[in-house]
Amino acid sequence: MYSYKELIEKVRQYFSDEHFTGTPAELYKPIEYTLTDGGKRIRPVLMLAATQMFDGDIDDARYAAIGIETFHNFTLLHDDLMDKSPLRRGKPTVYKKWDENTAILSGDAMNTLAWHYFLKNNNRKLPEILKTFEKTSMEICEGQQYDMNFENRTDVTIAEYMEMIRLKTAVLLGCALKIGALYGNATEEEVDNIYSFGINIGLAFQLRDDLLDAYGDVATFGKQTGTDIKDNKKTYLFLLAIQKADDSTRQRLPELFNTTPIDPSAKIQEVLDIYARLDIKKDVEDAIADLHHKAKENLDNIKRPEANKQALVEIAQQLLNRKL
Ligand code: IPE
Ligand code: IPE
Ligand code: MG
Ligand code: MG
Ligand code: MG
Repeated sequence: MYSYKELIEKVRQYFSDEHFTGTPAELYKPIEYTLTDGGKRIRPVLMLAATQMFDGDIDDARYAAIGIETFHNFTLLHDDLMDKSPLRRGKPTVYKKWDENTAILSGDAMNTLAWHYFLKNNNRKLPEILKTFEKTSMEICEGQQYDMNFENRTDVTIAEYMEMIRLKTAVLLGCALKIGALYGNATEEEVDNIYSFGINIGLAFQLRDDLLDAYGDVATFGKQTGTDIKDNKKTYLFLLAIQKADDSTRQRLPELFNTTPIDPSAKIQEVLDIYARLDIKKDVEDAIADLHHKAKENLDNIKRPEANKQALVEIAQQLLNRKL
């Protein structure tokens, strides 16, 4: 069995064996810029960890692993344009380094490239694998649309928020694990449990992302902080604050989240002061811990040797306190 570290190394190797160059260079350069040395590679690593957990050969999942990471990176190109985010992985985002049209078209090309990789391994499970991937792709679009719709509302409920982040973020982690499990020939019940595990760590993953957007260290996190507040994103932090606030703050917060000042620094500071006063950070940490607990139960439901689960346990542990 490979450890978490060894699986990351595998994925790095898979990517360094691929070439993303081509003509016209204006289309391919941003793809190469994004896919080379990029990111934590958490989704392909989850996929391989699931394949090996069910005693599959991880090299069978090689191209699907490249495919899911390529797809994830496509969503980031469009997401950064939609969120007007200047920085990712400590580097300028594609729409900033090039322009908006480049982010749209190179993103579209990466979406196609993802399907290309999925189709490369003609396994008998391919129809089910592609169906899972296609369903997930559409769910992410739905999640991203809810995320934008919520920018214009201040009455979003926690249940609506959880459903939004399930769609925009958690389903892709679930999908990676499910596909990995399919390559490992897991039973239907095992596939369901590993998918639920992915949803729970995926929800926790987005709560952590929301927290890091407010409190992360830019140099480590690699993204600009305060952007969710600037963009009036209805994050878990905002929703908890509304719930816990006294009457005057409950009035003030929606006022703040209805404005888009040219210089957002005063707005960001006022919101962070409210969060600090209400001890929001601790509540989010508690919610993350609860979701990890649920994820652990999903894993416990799968009756395979502990050694088979070790890499997934390590990944979950790593994600629990991640700083980037
Ligand atoms: C960022 O995903 C998008 C979210 C779902 C929060 P990651 O945090 O996995 O980004 P990279 O690929 O490691 O940069
Ligand atoms: C990202 O959510 C979800 C997708 C990319 C589908 P965010 O907008 O919070 O992700 P970051 O913070 O830009 O990575
Ligand atoms: Mg974003
Ligand atoms: Mg976004
Ligand atoms: Mg974010």
